[in-house]
Amino acid sequence: MRLEAIYLLLKKDLDATETHITSILSTMSSTSFSKSVLEYVISMKGKMLRPILVFLSTRLLFPDLRDDEYSKLLDVVSAVEIIHMASLVHDDVIDEAKFRRGKISLNEKYGNDVAVTMGVYLYSISLKLIARTESVPCLSELSDTVKEMCEGEFLQYVGRQSLTYSMDDYFSIIYSKTAVLFKSACISGIRLFNGKDSDCEQLTQFALSLGEAYQLTDDYLDCFGSEKDLNKDVGQDIVQGQLTLPMIKVLESLDKKDQARVLEGIRQKDISCLSILKEKLHDSHIKDEVYGIISSKIDASKTALSRLPQNKYNEALASLADFVFSRISN
Ligand code: FPP
Ligand code: MG
Repeated sequence: MRLEAIYLLLKKDLDATETHITSILSTMSSTSFSKSVLEYVISMKGKMLRPILVFLSTRLLFPDLRDDEYSKLLDVVSAVEIIHMASLVHDDVIDEAKFRRGKISLNEKYGNDVAVTMGVYLYSISLKLIARTESVPCLSELSDTVKEMCEGEFLQYVGRQSLTYSMDDYFSIIYSKTAVLFKSACISGIRLFNGKDSDCEQLTQFALSLGEAYQLTDDYLDCFGSEKDLNKDVGQDIVQGQLTLPMIKVLESLDKKDQARVLEGIRQKDISCLSILKEKLHDSHIKDEVYGIISSKIDASKTALSRLPQNKYNEALASLADFVFSRISN
């Protein structure tokens, strides 16, 4: 199934979600300033990947929902997307990002004070939506996930300060930063409608593997996408002290003297030290190694799907996994 076919399959659901989010965000704000900032947030529309995951995995197990069940699902799907929005608003403050989704970031446009407040504001709206469903299992799932996402940010912060990254740290960070929210998206339907634990376990496996593969492909493309991307992205990540898996691997392969030179360069924000990394990166098996790791994550996600009911929603989830892999294999 092509990506366009998935959007078509869920067109009504995704349209309903967008309308729901827009109406909630605009009715919940009470000052004209918060309204205008929220309008800006709404205008930075994303790919709706997490809502797609919520709908596909819920319909996989509960293809026919009553109207009252569908209203609850709309609240949960909106809460998941709003948590994602809040996390990006805060992440851009932390990363001092100037752009997000092709537009000026909220922090750059309105300043950090407004961006931090708006992130919490968005988060509070998502809590309200979950409260409306009266589903304690959903509340518990999403609060655990937000906590885990914050732990990931702390781990990333400590790594950036000390510049001591291990592969274990890297995998913990991508698990917390990306994979857990994929997991919440995929199991929120089960939590809401009290589905089976065994299905929950398989969807968890699917989502965590897919989420990790998704982040790994981003990091792979940053390094191996093209020479132009390489120059741009290696510089950006490292100036922030941010090391991705290919970079950690190449750093580990350097002798002690070169390692010390590169780490000092990163500390001084001197990107000339990157030439050592770039040279080694292309002169090694690291590209194949990372490709292999991504490929095995995609396989693991599909194995989990093979243990779930087989229908068009399952097929669509498998196609999403293929799509993630196609970003690096085409
Ligand atoms: C993007 O990472 C960051 C995330 C996916 C998660 C950020 C999480 C938090 C700030 C904690 C949770 C906070 C709330 C309010 C729910 P990136 O910088 O690698 O990606 P990017 O290139 O898209 O910025
Ligand atoms: Mg960022």
